[in-house]
Amino acid sequence: MARITAGVTTSHVPAIGAALDQGKQDSDYWSPLFEGYEWSKKWIAEEEPDVIVLVYNDHASAFSLEVIPTFAIGCADEYPIADEGYGPRPVPSVLGHVDLACHMAESLILDEFDMTVINQMKVDHGLSVPLSLLFGQPPAWPVKVVPILVNVIQYPPPTGERCFKLGQAIRRAVESFDDDLNVQVWGTGGMSHQLQGPRAGLINQPWDNDFLDKIADNADELRKIKHLEYVREAGSEGIELVMWLIMRGALGDAVDVLHRFYHVPASNTAVGHLVLRAN
Ligand SMILES: [Fe+2]
Repeated sequence: MARITAGVTTSHVPAIGAALDQGKQDSDYWSPLFEGYEWSKKWIAEEEPDVIVLVYNDHASAFSLEVIPTFAIGCADEYPIADEGYGPRPVPSVLGHVDLACHMAESLILDEFDMTVINQMKVDHGLSVPLSLLFGQPPAWPVKVVPILVNVIQYPPPTGERCFKLGQAIRRAVESFDDDLNVQVWGTGGMSHQLQGPRAGLINQPWDNDFLDKIADNADELRKIKHLEYVREAGSEGIELVMWLIMRGALGDAVDVLHRFYHVPASNTAVGHLVLRAN
């Protein structure tokens, strides 16, 4: 049986990918950020997950305002790297786990989550930056990925409560897959940031740290946060944090916090990173 062994959360700021690709990780600006991931890189090298169910949002790379799925699942065998306006990142294509993804699509839809099925897609920084932060810049990714995409771009995004329940359904889907796989679930995006308007540059460290405090043992409180609070407290792009709740819902009732890191700023975003052990 496949099993979910751990969860990871991390921001997926595009400038982090650019810093890595341009070899700037040891610079004064970037080194404090990358130091926060050193523990995690050693940890994941020992964990050797087979598959990562990677929850992220597309940033108008695969979708546009013409088509906006609320929840989507990638069932392709390979995901090329998208060109986000400055050429594709020089990182390997992402390989999918087709059998697990198709099983998950069936399980989730029969479990009443109406996923959009994606059979062909390029992936942007939302997916590739988290992989780079945990695995560095290898010639091939040492893991297969099942992408789960969430609309946090166009109002209305799904609620945190709905996302948490999708996570619970992802757990049921993974645990009903026959093959013996070590599966991790990653929730990406966030933390507080706002990219536009008079409040551009907003970062709310107390609010972010409260979210980090609660996600392990008080996730029920976070599930109740309304869209308006995300916008008011975490900025217009802080809504990405609902994707962390998918990860948390997939880990079950009790988790252990193995690693916690918070850093301000990366570009104009607060970066939060957790490694959680599922029990
Ligand atoms: Fe994003």
